[in-house]
Amino acid sequence: MTLGSNVSDCALGVCSSIGGLDPQSARVLLDKLERERTLSFDEWVRLISSYQDEEVRAYAMERARAVRDERYGNKVFTRGLIEFTNYCKNDCLYCGIRAGNKKARRYRLSAEEILSCCEEGYELGFRTFVLQGGEDPYFTDERLCAIVVEIRTKFPECAITLSVGERSRKSYQRLFDAGVDRYLLRHETANQEHYALLHPCGMSLENRKRCLSDLREIGYQVGSGFMVGSPGQTAETLAEDMLFLADLKPHMVGIGPFVSHHDTCFAEHPNGSLELTLFMLACLRLMIPEVLLPATTALGTIDPLGREKGMDAGANVVMPNLSPVARRADYDLYDNKICTGEEAAECRFCLQRRMQIAGYEVVVDRGDSLVD
Ligand code: 5AD
Ligand code: FES
Repeated sequence: MTLGSNVSDCALGVCSSIGGLDPQSARVLLDKLERERTLSFDEWVRLISSYQDEEVRAYAMERARAVRDERYGNKVFTRGLIEFTNYCKNDCLYCGIRAGNKKARRYRLSAEEILSCCEEGYELGFRTFVLQGGEDPYFTDERLCAIVVEIRTKFPECAITLSVGERSRKSYQRLFDAGVDRYLLRHETANQEHYALLHPCGMSLENRKRCLSDLREIGYQVGSGFMVGSPGQTAETLAEDMLFLADLKPHMVGIGPFVSHHDTCFAEHPNGSLELTLFMLACLRLMIPEVLLPATTALGTIDPLGREKGMDAGANVVMPNLSPVARRADYDLYDNKICTGEEAAECRFCLQRRMQIAGYEVVVDRGDSLVD
């Protein structure tokens, strides 16, 4: 397929030459998805093209909640997010901390600072730490493994998740052997042309897929995912994302709206839509009922109640920010990112309150995925 001319006039967040379905036919497809956990490419395109119909969205979200409640009840898992470096050797066109953005204020936490984030998190009740960063060459296998071993020794019952991009299979193996349990690496888009539109020449979908399959083979619990409404995205590329994820069957799928960053090539591109993000969350829940599905910070950024709405679309994970408050604003992936101000020091309690009000119970255990 070609992305063609609809790249620039994609203001609704999704374009397709194929029109949407009437609500009744969309329901039939959603029921089929729930029953069979799979749809054909054409069915996906038609279903995704129907997201603007409020009735269709409401039905998808209602079924997604039922499927989630059956597996997880009203429990929400929390993961403490530590954004430990915003140095990055890559130049992903959508990302505020890409190497080419000379205006980004760079920082890197020391091993001691990372450990003290974990200690603070542990006191707050977290039993999963997510160490996320740009692709920072400073963090060699030796340095990262040393940090992981220290966390593993100090907090033996905690899950350690890494999210530091593409590395060699050997490196993934060393990190796993050092004690990392889980790895998050969004595929971003499963369509090659679309991948090339979002990334610089040196990067390829092929290598991203290689990383994901290495991680799975090594024995990590794997998270993947994509942005909703990224430049060039269409109902067709989203259909490819769903087919790719059905095949990969990751333990976690992180999706959130694309949010523009003023110092990137996509500064003028409209943000992804709340409605489409909620619809895709619901479809993911129906497709992989056991999946861990975060209500992401990006979703909370485009709508003040975005994360709560994400829960109502079938999500079951939240990731409060545990990074030092003084550094948070510098982990500047996109504009207006929430949880970056002084008032956000206690994201944990803020999110707990929010979830309680929305009718969910925040649990602090490791929250292993039920996906095998
Ligand atoms: N808008 C939304 N999400 C973004 N990410 C990076 N830049 C943006 C943006 N502008 C997401 C990517 C990446 C994750 C860490 O953050 O999907 O995988
Ligand atoms: Fe971070 Fe509310 S969740 S400030």
